[in-house]
Amino acid sequence: TQYTIAVVVGSLRQDSINRKLARALEKLAPREFTFKYLEIGDLPLYNQDNDANPPAPVTRFKAEISAAQALLFVTPEYNRSVPGVLKNALDNASRPYGQNAWAGKPAGVIGGSIGTIGTALAQSHLRGILAYLDVPTLGQPEVYLFVKEGFFDAAGEIASEGTRKFLQDWMDRYAAWVKKIAG
Ligand code: FNR
Repeated sequence: TQYTIAVVVGSLRQDSINRKLARALEKLAPREFTFKYLEIGDLPLYNQDNDANPPAPVTRFKAEISAAQALLFVTPEYNRSVPGVLKNALDNASRPYGQNAWAGKPAGVIGGSIGTIGTALAQSHLRGILAYLDVPTLGQPEVYLFVKEGFFDAAGEIASEGTRKFLQDWMDRYAAWVKKIAG
């Protein structure tokens, strides 16, 4: 069985460490997983007036989520919570009421920060939002990455062997769990 994993990176920045982290994680995944990076930068600010006639990027975004068997959120922490761009994406795909595209998709939550807190608060908030959206999240292992200079090598791989092993273990657990839930 092949699995499409919809990846949502909570940063729009070109050099995002979280985008790099997602790319590095992709290399640790089983062959039957295909990662599709969802664009969130072109989604309009959510406006309930548009529910009856959603803008084209929202319709596309929801279709991409529906086509995936599982989700992977890789996000920074902004001001002790999820970045607004990520919350906006979550809100856009959750509506109109009764047409929540996220529902039932198993999700991994992971993130890296240049602070030692390693996105712990952002992830905690994100898990709360996802619970409401009926998205089961992998509980353990948790990953709160402190990303300092030299974390990625020139090829974009995780430089530290210990960290790579830790993330490989995370990926193995995530993959097994996705297969169990998505079938
Ligand atoms: C941050 N950063 C940050 N880091 C953190 O650990 N906790 C926080 O609350 C915040 N808050 C915050 C707010 C805003 C507006 C910015 C721009 C940044 C720092 C953050 O970890 C750093 O900029 C990362 O590099 C952002 O992730 P990407 O874009 O590299 O993936």
